[in-house]
Amino acid sequence: MKLLKRGRLLLFLKLTLVLGSLWMLSLLTRPKAEWSLTYILRYSWLKYTDEDDSPEKVCNCSAILQGEREALEEAKLLAITKEFRKTVRIPDEYYINASQDCRQFKLSRKYLTFPLSQEEADFPLAYSIVVHHKVQNFERLLRAIYAPQNIYCVHVDKTAEASVLSAIRAITSCLPNTFIVSQAVDVVYSAWPRVQADLNCMADLYKATTKWKYFINLCGQDFPLKTNLEIVRMLRSLNGGNSLESEKLPAEKMWRVTNVHQIVDGQIQGTGKAKEPPPFNLPILSGSAYFVVNRGFIRSVLEDKRILALMEWAKETYSPDEFLWATIQRIPGVPGSTRPSRKYDMSDINAIARLVKWQGHEGSQESLEAVYPKCQGSHVRSICVYGVGDLQWMLEHHHLFANKFDTDTDPIAVYCLEKYLRKKALSQLH
Ligand SMILES: *[C@@H]1O[C@H](CO)[C@@H](O)[C@H](O)[C@H]1NC(C)=O
Ligand SMILES: *[C@@H]1O[C@H](CO)[C@@H](O)[C@H](O)[C@H]1NC(C)=O
Repeated sequence: MKLLKRGRLLLFLKLTLVLGSLWMLSLLTRPKAEWSLTYILRYSWLKYTDEDDSPEKVCNCSAILQGEREALEEAKLLAITKEFRKTVRIPDEYYINASQDCRQFKLSRKYLTFPLSQEEADFPLAYSIVVHHKVQNFERLLRAIYAPQNIYCVHVDKTAEASVLSAIRAITSCLPNTFIVSQAVDVVYSAWPRVQADLNCMADLYKATTKWKYFINLCGQDFPLKTNLEIVRMLRSLNGGNSLESEKLPAEKMWRVTNVHQIVDGQIQGTGKAKEPPPFNLPILSGSAYFVVNRGFIRSVLEDKRILALMEWAKETYSPDEFLWATIQRIPGVPGSTRPSRKYDMSDINAIARLVKWQGHEGSQESLEAVYPKCQGSHVRSICVYGVGDLQWMLEHHHLFANKFDTDTDPIAVYCLEKYLRKKALSQLH
């Protein structure tokens, strides 16, 4: 009897020991196991995979990004195939319907629903996006830059087709930190309203929250070259500075600011009248419509009397978007600005705001004047609309964004870039 009891006790002790050590073992391994389970639950659904069923999935993006000739040729052929083009194209109505069920829309399009890191959560960004057509380009751009800690203002042209506004309204209504500008204008190419569109978004974004640190403006045909984390790190490394093209205004562009211009029948025209010099004798510099600036710069644009006077003066000039920001960047006292001295001139290649291939600067490797190799896509208004063959070159640059992309002419370039960025963003978690 006693012996039996002792046997049972022994068995009990042995069992406790085994269970105990198993428990100890589980404690030791738990953080890792739990972490990877969290990883699977939280992040794996965010991967872009072939199951997403994009028609572009037949392309080998890693070969394309490495510039392998055969993969590039295949992709180029596919991009001009009628059947393929038809399957890639997504009508505006699709977005209106698909975003009726926001949860399903965000899930199927794999929108991020939480910041991927504390570092990113602590450094929110504000975006102004100016769009007038091509909703598919816009949605793919928005998805690529979207993070819940950032804030996005979308300016849809007042004269855009009704379906464009409806589709964008539907998409933005699914994302709480994304909104349509409170006041839309009729954007005229090379005229003041292009600037006004950004200004209206700036004012809305500035009022919306005090949290964001940097402002980036985009158009619907831009696409990022960096992940949100990389963008945050590059902006932090500016130490409060801004990054945009700001150079001497070339003599051949002087007429733009010395003649009075106005909009006639939706087009900008010279009136033949001479324009008065700029207020406060501000030196006019040359630059781009796209810029990356800190919050204080935006406050100055909205409140500084010198800048308000400069903008009033600029309303009757040609293409004010291409000198206004460049000029403000050199006004003393503007946060993050640099001195007017020529030593501080910055080219579009040295600034991080935007990578653009201008037709006039393309050329062979041997050319002494050429700034970049030939465009591998097509040209619109002397600007390269990138093809798959431009991707490898593009990714060697420090720019945050590149312009222009068009999913109607080369959807594979956008597809490979979005896959590359998502993969990188998820790998940066480890
Ligand atoms: C895609 O290209 C890469 C790089 O050349 C190659 O290693 C890989 O095997 C290719 N994948 C497929 C499915 O062909
Ligand atoms: C509208 O969206 C639903 C799912 O959200 C889908 O089942 C349906 O087929 C769509 N209709 C059209 C006409 O695309």
